Order: sequence, then structure tokens, then C-alpha cells
Amino acid sequence: MSDGDLVIVYEKHDNMKAAKVRENLVLQNRFGVFKHSDWIGRLFGSKVFSNKSEFVYMLAPTPELRTLVLSHRTQILYVADISFVTIYLELVPSCLVLESGTGSGSLTTSLARVVAPTGHVYTFDFHEKGPASAR
Ligand SMILES: C[S@@+](CC[C@H](N)C(=O)[O-])C[C@H]1O[C@@H](n2cnc3c(N)ncnc32)[C@H](O)[C@@H]1O
Repeated sequence: MSDGDLVIVYEKHDNMKAAKVRENLVLQNRFGVFKHSDWIGRLFGSKVFSNKSEFVYMLAPTPELRTLVLSHRTQILYVADISFVTIYLELVPSCLVLESGTGSGSLTTSLARVVAPTGHVYTFDFHEKGPASAR
């Protein structure tokens, strides 16, 4: 993990949140205080400890996890429907995708992963406020 990375802080399967790693910040929860600086240089999947010797896991922000932690600005697509959409559209790396109705961006992150590294996703929403998943 590096300064500026988005990470998923995993407490348990029904308690996860997204955080942006910032060298000078701390994360405070019921387990105590976690210094972001302790996370830098560690691998995704690492167990990290608080000032009270309690722990959380730091997970990579996969599209599946982002779907679970993002702030819902709209109704969102979940993994079953996302899988159907990507297979039905026969999306593969290098595809060019135009998505209308970004909403909270749940589908968008999966589209981006499917077409990477040479494809591209263009997404549009007539509602000005964008996805809030990194907050
Ligand atoms: C249900 S949400 C999409 C959720 C998104 N697929 C996800 O998984 O997070 C529908 C979105 O479509 C947008 N929308 C509806 N009609 C549209 C249009 N004609 N052009 C662009 N965006 C539109 C709405 O503003 C809303 O944000």
C-alpha cells in the first residue's frame, strides 16, 4: 500500500469501509486508533494493529468490494447482475464501452477491470454529482 491508495478496511464481512491512505492521518474505530503511516509499504491483505493491539485487515479495492462499501447515491447493480451484463456484452480486454447512467459507479469499476489494460470505459450521467465510493 502506498500514500494515496484506496483501501478497504475489513472489520468483518458485514463491516467494511473504504479509506484513502494518507501518511498523516489516522483511522479511529471501536478497535482504537490506526496510523495510516503503519500501512504504507505493507501488502494488501495485511493485518494491521491499533494502539489497543486490536486489528483489521487491509484489502485491495476490487470492484466486488467497492460495490459493497460505496455510498449509494442511487440504486446500484450487484455482482450477479454485473456478471450477467459483462458476459452478455461479450466484454474482453481492449473493448471500448460507453455506459449511460453512471449512478454510484458500481457497474463502472467492473467494466473498467474487464476491458483493462488497453480498453476504455466512457461513462455519463445527466445527474451532476458523481460516484462517492472513495469518500
Ligand atoms: C440506477 S442508477 C445506475 C446505477 C449504476 N449502474 C450502478 O451500478 O451504480 C441510474 C442512473 O442513470 C441516470 N440516468 C437516467 N437517465 C439517464 C439519461 N437519459 N442519460 C444519462 N443518465 C441517465 C440517473 O441519473 C442515475 O444516476
